[in-house]
Formats: sequence, C-alpha cells, structure tokens
Amino acid sequence: MSTFEEWRNALTRLTGPRQPTARLRKDLVTLLSAETADAGQAIREAAYAIKAEHCGAVVHLRGLIEISNLCVKDCFYCGIRRSNRSVVRYDMPREDVLAAADFADAHGYGSICIQSGERADVRFVRGIESLVREITQRTNRRLGITLSCGEQKRDTYVRWFEAGAHRYLLRIETSNEKLYRFLHPADHGHASRLRCLDLLRATGYQVGTGVMVGVPSQTLEHLADDLLFFVDRDVDMIGMGPYVVQQKTPLGAMSRNSVADQELRLRLSLRMIALARILMRDVNIVAATAMQVLHPQGRELALLAGANIVMPVITSAEYRKDYALYDGKPCVDETAEQCGNCLDARVASIGESIEYGAWGDSPHALKRRSA
Ligand code: 5AD
Repeated sequence: MSTFEEWRNALTRLTGPRQPTARLRKDLVTLLSAETADAGQAIREAAYAIKAEHCGAVVHLRGLIEISNLCVKDCFYCGIRRSNRSVVRYDMPREDVLAAADFADAHGYGSICIQSGERADVRFVRGIESLVREITQRTNRRLGITLSCGEQKRDTYVRWFEAGAHRYLLRIETSNEKLYRFLHPADHGHASRLRCLDLLRATGYQVGTGVMVGVPSQTLEHLADDLLFFVDRDVDMIGMGPYVVQQKTPLGAMSRNSVADQELRLRLSLRMIALARILMRDVNIVAATAMQVLHPQGRELALLAGANIVMPVITSAEYRKDYALYDGKPCVDETAEQCGNCLDARVASIGESIEYGAWGDSPHALKRRSA
C-alpha cells in the first residue's frame, strides 16, 4: 500500500510529460496499490478530466450481438469453453442476426459488435463474411461494425475487413506469458495471440485489446505491465473487465467469490480504466457489462473512471442466457428495447449523454488514419 506522498507524486508524474518506462511502471504499481478513498477519487478525477477533454462527456454504443457460443477453445476461466458440457450450444440463424442489426440501426446505435465463441471452419468464416457484407449493404454503411471472433488466419481477417468490418477486439487476457499459460491449456499460445494483434493492425482494423482484472495469481506488477502493453501496442480501443467466477470452469472451481474479493476486483478494474485513460488519452474504453455483476452501478462507475463506450446486449432473449462467460450475467431476462431505455437513464444519471447515430470511432484511431 502506498503513502499519500507516494501516490500524489506518482499521479503528478503520470499526468505530466512521458516518463521512462521503468519509472512509469513503478508509478503505475504505486497508483494501483493506493487504497484510500482520497487516492481513488484523485485518480478518477484526473482520468475523467482527460476523457472530457479528448472524448467529451458522451457515450457511444456498440449493440452487442452474441451470435454463437460454439467454441473450439478451452480457456480455464470461460463459461463457454469447449469442455463445458452443461452449456446449451447455439448458432443464431442469419435472419436473427440481421434482425438484431436492424434493431441497432433503427435505434440509432451507430455501431454493432458481433461476438462469438472461436471457430475457424469454412462455414463460420464465410458466414461472418456474408453477414458483415449484408449488414453493411442493408444499412448503407450507417452501422460501424466491430468483430470479436477470436484468433484467425490473415486471409480470414482480410476477408472480413473487405466485407466491411473496421474494428476488431481481441483481448490479450494478460500480457504476462507465464500467467497466460496458467489460464489456458498448453495449445493456446500467447505468441499466436500477439501475432493476431499484429495481423489485425496490418489489415487496417482499428484494434482493441484488453485483460481480465483480478484473476487468481495476478499481481499489481502484471497489471502495470498490461497498461504498458496497451501503450506499447498503441491500441485504439481497450476492453477490460473484472474476472468473474464461473463455477463450471477449472479456474472457477478453485476461485473464491467472497464479497471482499469482488470489492477488490471492482476497485482494481476501475483503477485500471482510470490509469489506461490517463496513459492513452484519446482511445475508446469500454465500460464492460461484467462491471455490473460486481456492483449495480458498475458501468456508470466505469464511465466516471474514464470509460466512454457501452455495449448493450441486443442478442435476442432466447440466446442471452446461453452466452454465459461468467456467473451472474446481468440483463438476461431483458429485451433489447428494455436495455436501451435502461441505458439512457443510467447515462443521464451521471450527467452524460449517449451520442446516437454516430460510429463513435476513437479520436486515437482517427488521428492515426489522418497521420
Ligand atoms: N470473467 C470475466 N471475463 C471473462 N471472459 C471470459 N470468461 C470470463 C470470466 N469468467 C472474457 C474474456 C474474453 C471475453 C470475451 O470474455 O476476457 O476475451
């Protein structure tokens, strides 16, 4: 735990001119370990001021369509891992995905995010390609399209990009190779994840990555390195959220889910968002739905800590409950319509507003394009 002097000085340095990496890393650990309410507030306020200056006090939406929970991966923490036999598997019919995209378009969401378990078979690759093409055409490019469909070959990324997707989210989960190995089976390589991030950037996507916060055996040094990883990769978007126990997973079976653990994960997740905002300034940062599992106003707290993107689930009700990456997923009984109304109220409650009808690309990505 850091003292008042230590975290104050670290925050002053962090908001000033860029420090050498070793100094930066120490300061990030100091700021992550500052536990007093004063420290939390000062860090949050610094982050919020930077967000207001670079992104405004506005929220952009990504209507989240969870198109399939079929997955070839077996990540130890994830509820839809291949080995979890208790999951009812689904693959949404094309018409249902298009209907969800039409809903987003009709409600001025500006962007959608198509997310799925990971697959690489030809049927899947062609299916995404044709969906993206169809949505692009039928909405006359009104909807920005983000994909979050895991590790793929270069050719696949190119095909999906050419069909009209322009952003891609691929979480690194942790920048630490050893921790990555602890969280995944032996054939899930950290190096291949890194290579995919390279391929995505080379293809022309706006690239987003992120980590889970509060996984067992993760240290504050790991988290500081994760933040440095975002800077080093110069990412356009960040999606981070707390690790939430999923009982039917190997990691879930060995994790505790006490209130104290939940509070710590919430605090650290908010701190990571604030520090990412201070470091990266004009990137898009998601207020992850998982935040709401740990606190009823988790997403609002994330917005106040520097996030500027919310991803309302628009997957139709019959599939929502089966896309359970973690236990206690909120809003599973709600319709897309209800989620939209609820969000308006939540965002207004903290004095911000949703900008409808805009793609909401990060200023960071727009500057890169014009550079
Ligand atoms: N808790 C929190 N996040 C999880 N994810 C998967 N399982 C969990 C969990 N138990 C996240 C991973 C993945 C994203 C789609 O969901 O970070 O990249």
